Amino acid sequence: MDKILGTINGMDFTMGDSLLELSYLIAALLFVYGLKLLSHPATARRGNLWAAGGMGLAMITTLLLHKNAQGVGISLLNIWIILAFIGVGSVIGWIIARRVKMTAMPQLVSLFNASGGAASMLVALLEYPNAKAGDISSILVTVLGLIIGSIAFSGSMIAYGKLDGKVGDIKKPFMTYVNLLLLLVTLALGAYIVVSPNPPTDLIWAIYALMGISLVYGVMFVFPIGGADMPVVISLLNALTGVAAAMAGFIYGNQAMILGGILVGAAGMILTMLMCKAMNRSLLNVIIGSFGGGGAAGIEHEQGTIKEVQLSDAAVLLSYSQKIVIIPGYGLAVAQAQHIVHELDSLLEGKGIEVKYAIHPVAGRMPGHMNVLLAEADVPYEKLIEMDAINPDMPNVDVAIVIGANDVVNPAAYDDPSSPIYGMPIIDAHLAKNIIIMKRGMGKGYAGIENYLFFNDKTRMLFGDAKSSLQKLVNEIKSM
Ligand code: TAP
Repeated sequence: MDKILGTINGMDFTMGDSLLELSYLIAALLFVYGLKLLSHPATARRGNLWAAGGMGLAMITTLLLHKNAQGVGISLLNIWIILAFIGVGSVIGWIIARRVKMTAMPQLVSLFNASGGAASMLVALLEYPNAKAGDISSILVTVLGLIIGSIAFSGSMIAYGKLDGKVGDIKKPFMTYVNLLLLLVTLALGAYIVVSPNPPTDLIWAIYALMGISLVYGVMFVFPIGGADMPVVISLLNALTGVAAAMAGFIYGNQAMILGGILVGAAGMILTMLMCKAMNRSLLNVIIGSFGGGGAAGIEHEQGTIKEVQLSDAAVLLSYSQKIVIIPGYGLAVAQAQHIVHELDSLLEGKGIEVKYAIHPVAGRMPGHMNVLLAEADVPYEKLIEMDAINPDMPNVDVAIVIGANDVVNPAAYDDPSSPIYGMPIIDAHLAKNIIIMKRGMGKGYAGIENYLFFNDKTRMLFGDAKSSLQKLVNEIKSM
């Protein structure tokens, strides 16, 4: 089977080698196909499976057909060790994925990002001593893999802590300068290692120092980011993990790793740009790591009075409306009220009322959170309307029902220059003719700031857990 087919760069190219390269090509096609399917909730599950199949294929063929520079394949002992670790990792991953609550999914994604970054960091660290002195291109990808992998690892761990409420925002004005300094030192040390004529074995101190500084930079650049700006940094860290994996692929000359990493990096970068646009922030600010509010800021407004609504009045108001927009937020996910909100929407539609959902790009705690949540309850995708498309129609809406959303409807984003969310586009719930807000109490949103929509004259509060409030509302409308 391992017939020599030819010679490339003085090395024999065998049948096994061509099968391996072919399997990488098939894996890359499966990644692309999987990504395409992932772009729609109805096909996303299948997309995940196709892409995972591509990864599985690349892993199996690598174990069976990979050879080192001397033409020697992976030893049987090493194959067993690798399989044992894959087994342990898969069992741990399986258990965590089965147990994780839907609301803790963003934290899990951050942990996955951190593991990807750590893996690339370790590959670069272990492979650096094997690089040839003066081989600038291979030392460059190793150094880049180390820097990007380390930043993605430590940054994602801090992002995990913040999403989980374990780590607070630490924001001091001097941190911008410290971050800039750290970034410059990282780049300068990286450049020194790349251009140095010394053999890598003489620069082991430098590579460890580079790893340490990059790890510190990852921590420092995520620490100050708070308020409503985490979505940008999460997608940026996701993109960095992909780029770090691609660098590790270059180190090993492994096409599947390079392609997989580039696809994750490119998709993550596009998402980062979209998130920046959604939050009206510039990427430069993210890299320096000093934007985003700590949450406490905001000028003192005179608070109006809060008006509550009775269930029966809410039911009448909804039943006699023509146009209703539901604005879901993180609280809908916490309450797991996606099925009952769909029931309410079907009930109202049965009465000839037009019902749409307004989707803010950063509602919830991960990109596409509301889309996934509502897709789980089989809400037709056409009913989910993006913020930019629904806002011009908001003045014609009879009732805006805000369910567990807070920051994404907070008019402080328009009116209050001192607010940490100032400048962020919001869903214009305040322009609707009537506003019903469902939440448990006067709790704040992720940005930790007061929401003056609650004190608006047109607003009525329906306090309680979203799931039980919606259930009662559905019963009330049915009994009318
Ligand atoms: P938030 O502003 O976080 O507000 C959620 C609201 O839901 C809270 O005010 C809470 O008020 C209410 N709530 C919680 N549990 C509830 C339950 N069981 N029933 C009813 N209400 C409940 O949510 P949002 O408007 O979706 O905004 C998202 C925020 O998270 C933005 O600031 C965004 O930047 C940030 N963020 C987003 C992401 C991504 S990628 N989407 C990632 C990280 C951070 P009560 O306690 O009074 O009930």
